[in-house]
Amino acid sequence: MEENLVIPKHVAIILDGNGRWAKKRGLPRTMGHKQGCVTVEKTVEDAARLGISYLTVYGFSTENWKRSAEEVGALMQLFRYYMVRLLKIAKKNNVRVRMIGDRRRFAQDIIEGINRLEEETKDNTGLTFVIAVNYGGRDEIRRAAAKLAKDVQAGAVDAENITEECFASYLDTAGMPDPDLLIRTSGELRLSNYLLWQLAYSELYVCDCYWPDFNKEELVKAIEAYNKRERRFGGVK
Ligand code: IPE
Ligand code: IPE
Ligand code: MG
Repeated sequence: MEENLVIPKHVAIILDGNGRWAKKRGLPRTMGHKQGCVTVEKTVEDAARLGISYLTVYGFSTENWKRSAEEVGALMQLFRYYMVRLLKIAKKNNVRVRMIGDRRRFAQDIIEGINRLEEETKDNTGLTFVIAVNYGGRDEIRRAAAKLAKDVQAGAVDAENITEECFASYLDTAGMPDPDLLIRTSGELRLSNYLLWQLAYSELYVCDCYWPDFNKEELVKAIEAYNKRERRFGGVK
């Protein structure tokens, strides 16, 4: 079956349900996040092997800072740990890593880790793995608008010539194709401020399984569902 599938070029994922996964097992939420990181690693390798070109995963939203200090702190520790592992995985699988979102709010060592991940994997030619951290679709559009306004003010851009392509080139995802398929785990039917501009014509797929339980089989199921869709606009199929 897998051989006959059209593989979407760009798959975006809202990984959700780490907390519920842990709760179901009587574990602290942090354990769900830890297991969720393992699933991210596996999904990167699965996506690379399936021939997906871009995988964009929502790791931490601009709203997630409102969670308890304990949970935010634990998530930051997990970033620190998994950034190092991710560098190894990226090198092994020819994966290029890119981060979107406003990284300036993170601690200095995390910012340095993110920069290093991008720098050391930038020449890899396989899957581009994009992680959205301190990311919010509205915040991304706001930052793009502010940058564009500066260029207009400086005379570098004529306001009359601001096309959709021009605006998109100011977004964090500049140069990337829009997602063909959005997957959300854990059954919630909302976008939670994810890629608001880029998802304009993406196919949406929601599965019930909690993110730590997501695996290659679930990914292939989503791609199979995508193959059955009649797309109107957007990427090739
Ligand atoms: C997703 O799982 C991970 C992050 C948002 C960081 P949640 O933590 O949202 O898990 P639930 O939705 O509470 O189950
Ligand atoms: C979306 O999940 C954000 C990430 C996956 C990082 P949330 O669990 O934070 O979203 P809401 O609160 O259910 O909308
Ligand atoms: Mg959630």
